[in-house]
Amino acid sequence: MKLGLRFRLIAFTFCLILTVGGGILGYAVYLGRDNIFAAFEREGKESAAAIAESVLNELYFFDLRGVAVRLAAARANTDIRRIDVTDLEGVVVAETGKGDSRLNHQLRGPLAAGMRSASTWLSISEGGFFHVAGPVSMPDGSRIGYLHVEFALDEPQARARHLAMGILLVTLVYLAVGGAMAAGISARFARPIVEMAHAAKQIGEGMLETRISIKRNDELGVLAQSINELAANRQKAEKALAERAEELKRSNRELEQFAYVASHDLQEPLRMITGYTQLLAKRYGDKLDQDANEYIDYAVEGAKRMQALIHDLLDYSRVGTRGKEFAPADCQAIVTETLRTLQPAIQESAATIAYDSLPTVMGEESQLLQLFQNLIGNAIKYRDSKPPVVQVSCKQEGGNWLFSVRDNGIGIDPKYAERIFVIFQRLHGRDQYAGTGIGLAVCKKIVERHGGKIWVESEPGKGATFYFTIPARVDDDEGSHLGH
Ligand SMILES: Nc1ncnc2c1ncn2[C@@H]1O[C@H](COP(=O)(O)OP(=O)(O)OP(=O)(O)O)[C@@H](O)[C@H]1O
Ligand SMILES: [Mg+2]
Repeated sequence: MKLGLRFRLIAFTFCLILTVGGGILGYAVYLGRDNIFAAFEREGKESAAAIAESVLNELYFFDLRGVAVRLAAARANTDIRRIDVTDLEGVVVAETGKGDSRLNHQLRGPLAAGMRSASTWLSISEGGFFHVAGPVSMPDGSRIGYLHVEFALDEPQARARHLAMGILLVTLVYLAVGGAMAAGISARFARPIVEMAHAAKQIGEGMLETRISIKRNDELGVLAQSINELAANRQKAEKALAERAEELKRSNRELEQFAYVASHDLQEPLRMITGYTQLLAKRYGDKLDQDANEYIDYAVEGAKRMQALIHDLLDYSRVGTRGKEFAPADCQAIVTETLRTLQPAIQESAATIAYDSLPTVMGEESQLLQLFQNLIGNAIKYRDSKPPVVQVSCKQEGGNWLFSVRDNGIGIDPKYAERIFVIFQRLHGRDQYAGTGIGLAVCKKIVERHGGKIWVESEPGKGATFYFTIPARVDDDEGSHLGH
């Protein structure tokens, strides 16, 4: 899983505090230690100079007892472990303290060598002790001997330890403050961002009632408010859309109902007109002249056409109002049945109709029958001089079955590709091709009722291919339900 914003912000803040603070602390430790030892060195050299001053007279007169007394007094300073006084050759003439107590030994080591050539006090830290050495000089500057003082480092080491403890304490406090700051930053910034991200995701997924409770005066507050407004606006828009869709559905239902009732009720008076004009022709035909008989024929013909139109209109309105529940419908069987119905037209036109294995879909069988009948019927009807060749195919595309009915007929100008699906829209006169112009409108309504789309691809003179989709059932795999 990816690391969350909160964790990353805490880690980042903590690292930042640790790096910067750690650097400063380290530097302070370095400086502090240096200071402690530098001060100790300075003080050491000062007390060595003071001791040299105090033994000057006694040494000058070579009063070694006096020197010893002075040295004993100097050892009141508890840091001093040992003092040696030497003559100009470096041979010890007086000494006090721990370590080698033989008189007449010679001071050795780099410090002893250096002290004779140097004009000031020298110091060296060695084996856990601190040594200072330098000349014992008369006021005129002439040397009469040398002094070596050895200090214990306990005191500066203790001070350095104290410093380290102090720094450790500061570090702990500092880490605690750092942690608190990181947590604070996280609570102040990361948590609201995480909350907003969560809410935005929910809103994106359609839970439009989600709101963010963050109220603050900075940009995060503005962001939270904007997300809330966005959700509220979408909620409002969605509600309006749902209302409009419901309204549309209702008015559509009303319209269908109206078309159904109107066409149903129109049939009755129309039947009367047809019946009585036919009666008129039969009873009084021989009493009327040629023209009158012709007019009666026109009237009968008009009434019959109107009856056909009303019949189709009824069909059309029934697609929506009289629809039954969907059930598995075997398209293979439906097409076979269609071809039986269309047998006279097929025979008359010498048409060849071929079809691939077709799937079983969820739908209303009688409507699918009507659909194939209209499409194949058109494919046969709108032929040119050659016998019609019609191919019905189907393949699965995404979540849909894509059906196609291809013919080799007169074709359609693409600019009429939309218009032909509108009720009563025809591209030909009745004398050219019979029909009322309702077939494709019914097809469109049926396909849409089944959750699909219908369209045509064609060029004049090159045949036409009508496509329509039907949603595949969830358990339909590629190719299953094909073939029998
Ligand atoms: N396969 C086709 N090839 C060429 N033109 C077609 C084809 N199918 C439909 N058309 C054109 O589309 C118009 C509308 O077709 P539609 O099926 O809706 O009505 P119709 O066939 O004229 O009448 P009905 O189907 O109601 O008897 C037709 O008049 C025709 O011009
Ligand atoms: Mg038709």
